[in-house]
Amino acid sequence: MKGFMDSTLVIGSQFGDEGKGKLVDCLAEKSDCVVRFQGGNNAGHTVVVDGKEFKLHLLPSGTIRKKRSLIGTGVSLDPRVLKQEIDSLKEKKIEVNLGIDPRCQIIMPWHNVIDIGKEEALKEKNIGTTRRGVGPCYADRASRIGIRFDDLVDEKRLSEKINFNYSYYKNVCEKVLGKEFDFTEEEVFQQYSALGKEFKKHLTDVSIEVNDFLVKGKKVLFEGAQGTMLDNDFGTYPFVTSSHPISGAATIGIGLSPQKLKRIIAVVKAYTTRVGSGPFPTELNETEADFLRNAGNEFGTTTGRARRVGWLDLPMLRMANRLNGFTELAITKLDVLSGIKKLLIAESYSIEGKKILEFPYANHLIEKAKPNYIEFKGFVLEEKDRKELREEGYSVLDPKAKKYLGFIEKQLKVPIKTISFGPDRIDTLTKGKSVC
Ligand code: GDP
Ligand code: IMO
Ligand code: MG
Repeated sequence: MKGFMDSTLVIGSQFGDEGKGKLVDCLAEKSDCVVRFQGGNNAGHTVVVDGKEFKLHLLPSGTIRKKRSLIGTGVSLDPRVLKQEIDSLKEKKIEVNLGIDPRCQIIMPWHNVIDIGKEEALKEKNIGTTRRGVGPCYADRASRIGIRFDDLVDEKRLSEKINFNYSYYKNVCEKVLGKEFDFTEEEVFQQYSALGKEFKKHLTDVSIEVNDFLVKGKKVLFEGAQGTMLDNDFGTYPFVTSSHPISGAATIGIGLSPQKLKRIIAVVKAYTTRVGSGPFPTELNETEADFLRNAGNEFGTTTGRARRVGWLDLPMLRMANRLNGFTELAITKLDVLSGIKKLLIAESYSIEGKKILEFPYANHLIEKAKPNYIEFKGFVLEEKDRKELREEGYSVLDPKAKKYLGFIEKQLKVPIKTISFGPDRIDTLTKGKSVC
């Protein structure tokens, strides 16, 4: 079996928004199929083509290249959002070639109400969720009352399931969370059965389709959402998402043997950002953060919230490498660091005087962690340098930038194969050469 499985997995190594969408779009050119396997429309993946921006929340980023696009069982699917996304691409003359697994869990209107109600109940301890209902939808999967895509396409089953869930959650929302529903059971049924009818043609067993692609020697690309530090177990719990954005999740989120994962790419932003609450050891204070936030346009793709920003964190990336088994790194947003005189990378932490190389397992320890920084001279990567990079490749990159990158590579013992130096497709070097 080994040797002819051509699979590539793209994983966020930090707190999400590393630039996964851009990388997936680049790799999709030479892929036959692109698959999402976890998360929902809490994700926001940006693809820029000739200055034109596409923001995707549910559809795999390969859709822009009109590739076969699959949504695996591990995804929490909001059909209302999916419809909007498909329609807005249609307006841009992009027809989707989409397959959806019948086992996908469906986000229902009460999931949004619960997401918001729980956040409000948590008060200052709120997670800062995207409020898209993703967490409550996964909770229903685990407690086995969830509605699946397979139910959505069958009116009788859908009506039975909506009947139970509607009255159950109306009670919970009104009596526990103090939230009223502004939709009736009949309205939900009508809306979702219409969506079911519309999407029926997309139903496919994604596990079988992906396995068939691989066995035939086709190239399959798996698109992770969120980032390792938001993993439901290994992230900074409870300030995490409700799925597993790590490589192992691709196997259960698609229905694939771990033996079929070949290339595992870490998307690493050249610094760190986080949106939402939770610990962040290398976070910059507000005044320092302003420069990076503006230079990197660090505002959430899904919610528009300002992202918190900080220096690159190696204990975090060491953990990400251990959990995911990266075979290569893709460093993104290198251009954003241009012009900063002194760059820092946290090489380790000190906790109560002890040097720690690995990211701690709990927030009470992370809060005590003081980063030990290594200092690097800043570099310049302005428009004229970027033009040169596009034309000449890696050899013309500022040696100071090479030093910064070389340190990351050496510390993690994983080769950097891709460097991104702008949002557009063309601002990408792979194995030292321009992709354009
Ligand atoms: P994702 O969730 O990992 O797909 O990342 P997002 O799309 O949410 O956020 C990344 C943002 O950075 C988007 O606005 C991208 O267009 C942009 N971007 C990606 N790579 C680069 C890069 O190398 N340089 C710059 N300046 N922007 C980039
Ligand atoms: P992409 O795929 C960045 C964060 C939220 C919040 C926490 C839980 O674009 O990288 P949720 O709505 O999932 O229950 O929120 O996770 N979060 C993300 N942060 N990028 C994302 O996705 C995220 N998806 C969720 O901000 O802190
Ligand atoms: Mg994003």
